[in-house]
Amino acid sequence: MGMAFYPISTIVLIVEIGIFAAVLLGVKYAKQLDIEMHHMFVYPAVFLQAIITFFWMFPNAAFYVSDPESPVKDIGLFILAIHRISGLIALLLALYLVVFFLFKRWENSNLKLNRKLMLATYYSWMTAFISGFLFYFSILFEI
Ligand code: HEM
Repeated sequence: MGMAFYPISTIVLIVEIGIFAAVLLGVKYAKQLDIEMHHMFVYPAVFLQAIITFFWMFPNAAFYVSDPESPVKDIGLFILAIHRISGLIALLLALYLVVFFLFKRWENSNLKLNRKLMLATYYSWMTAFISGFLFYFSILFEI
């Protein structure tokens, strides 16, 4: 039953707003070339997002898409489709960057290579956040 999910969904929404705020701060520090502060915000954000995605969003996506008791209708499923694609891209890119910079130094040559990827990660993350935010209301209003 969708109903039973609402309180947890609301908590997850609030946590997601916090994670996105951390991403925005991470971007701000990256622009200032303060790499230590950049890492301080984006590493925990990616770690927490990966945990939430694997243990909450993946199982629930299966439920909303295929369970006859799913409260979500056409509009919600459309939003969810956009959310799953952008969220998966954002998370995979973010995990790649995390692993890459755990092993490689923050040098100009590496940065050049990954600057575009970081921007792509940021914009797909933003798309996932906005569509996720909207999807919360699809669950709430059963649309
Ligand atoms: C960077 C990646 C992601 C971000 C920033 C993100 C963000 C969000 C946000 C803000 C919500 C609303 C909170 C809620 O309703 O619980 C949400 C919900 C949801 N997301 Fe994501 N998401 C990401 C990745 C994914 C992926 C890859 C999937 C693929 C299946 C996914 C599936 C879902 C589902 C099914 C919900 C509804 C969960 C519920 O029942 O409450 N998300 N997401």
